[in-house]
Amino acid sequence: MPVTQQRVGETMNKHDGVAGTEIAGSSSEMSWTPRSLDRGLAPYLALLQALEDDVRTGALPPGTQLPPHRALASHLGLSLSTVTKAYREAGIRGVVVGRVGQGTFVAAPDQRQSSGRSGGLINLGINLSPAGDQREALRTVFAELARGNGLDGLFAYDAQQGLAEHRAGLADWIATPGFRPSPEQILATNGAQHGLDLALSLTCAPGETILVEDLTYVGFKALADLHGYRLEPVAMDEEGLVPEALEERIRETRARLVYAMPTLHSPTARTMSPARRQRIAEIIERHGLRLIEDDVYGFLLDTKPEPIAGLIPERTLYLSSFSKIFELGFRAGTMAVPAPLIERARLAVRASTWSATPLLFEVALRMVRTGVMERLVRELRQESRRRHALFRKIFPGQRTPHDGALSGYHAWLELPNGWTAADLFFAARNDGVLITPPGSASVAGRPEAGVRLCLGAAGRAELERALAILRQLIDRPAGTMYSVA
Ligand SMILES: Cc1ncc(COP(=O)(O)O)c(C=O)c1O
Repeated sequence: MPVTQQRVGETMNKHDGVAGTEIAGSSSEMSWTPRSLDRGLAPYLALLQALEDDVRTGALPPGTQLPPHRALASHLGLSLSTVTKAYREAGIRGVVVGRVGQGTFVAAPDQRQSSGRSGGLINLGINLSPAGDQREALRTVFAELARGNGLDGLFAYDAQQGLAEHRAGLADWIATPGFRPSPEQILATNGAQHGLDLALSLTCAPGETILVEDLTYVGFKALADLHGYRLEPVAMDEEGLVPEALEERIRETRARLVYAMPTLHSPTARTMSPARRQRIAEIIERHGLRLIEDDVYGFLLDTKPEPIAGLIPERTLYLSSFSKIFELGFRAGTMAVPAPLIERARLAVRASTWSATPLLFEVALRMVRTGVMERLVRELRQESRRRHALFRKIFPGQRTPHDGALSGYHAWLELPNGWTAADLFFAARNDGVLITPPGSASVAGRPEAGVRLCLGAAGRAELERALAILRQLIDRPAGTMYSVA
């Protein structure tokens, strides 16, 4: 008879929130059992997460032998394959090692590789998706492709704009009720960063001025540095770009291009309301500018806000990406461009990379077709909400976004008590937490009044620890923690 209080089977109900299923009953014969399993996750993921958390917190020291698969499965009322899958994934992540004929053991710390750690620090400085079911989904599709003739046609020489069936799939994937680009307007890109580079080469010449939010995406600053574009900051409020400020800056600078992130802006995590989008679109239209709209995080909101591109499609180059669903190394993104630019866009792709890699689009779009992508996205939204709930629990005084949407991979921590982003960066690093370096997002040269905390890269237990460390730091008056000794 299973000894779980509530049987944790393959058909566990998914639900939001952080409550887990408590594991009751004697476990004296087990070298390890999870204290609870998160019912919001697939069973193997819940087990994997419990295992990772216990390893991270030291509850399971290196070298501990884990219970045999079969024993743990029957103890928890899980299927054998669920436990096997969890152990296998833990092995891939370097959390455990298998020894032939002996069993499975907790790995020594230097055998673990985790994107949640950087040089021994808990990493809240890089905006990655939380690890969930993505690797397993990738393994399944790659295995499928490797069988039969799944690879045929994926290495074609003439895929510059993207294979026709991929462009059709991408057009559908990014479409919203108000924005439906045709497959002819779609480009497959090696990620949104590549898309931004292409967009710039299509819309402005080196030396030109580009209007950007006064805190902007660090990768866009890198492109501006490389190509010699001048970035001019536009004031932001709780909704992002301020319309009056935009209009004024257009008059002052005579810029012809705006770059903006209307949804889950990086670094501030702000999202524009529909009314604000309308006003920004009208101004861009009235003054004859173009817009590069970066929407790599829009999929993380339950209802993706309507892109500005839907209001001014002939003026907007719209970007999204799969790397924020999988991992940064999954270099596959898409850009929708106004029809008159498409010929030149093809040339730009050809000049920069010949074609984005069709294989990755095949993988992603197979998942879209089978519904796996939708499930991954749903799980990422849930996990993002849990992590934001953790952030709110530890920093209850932080302002709630005007739209109340607490999701996405990053949160903006406003700094109290005279703290600066630089002070917090160095103090946090001293205490084992890495946050985004000061000045990364600033355009006007002014220090940021807050810091971006990336909630996705670390495991949940490590994230909680890191947030608690930051909370302790900023509760002290600024400038008191340095010793010159
Ligand atoms: C706002 C923003 N735009 C674009 C990118 C680039 O995405 P990709 O990995 O698809 O190149 C990132 C990645 O961090 C980002 O945060």
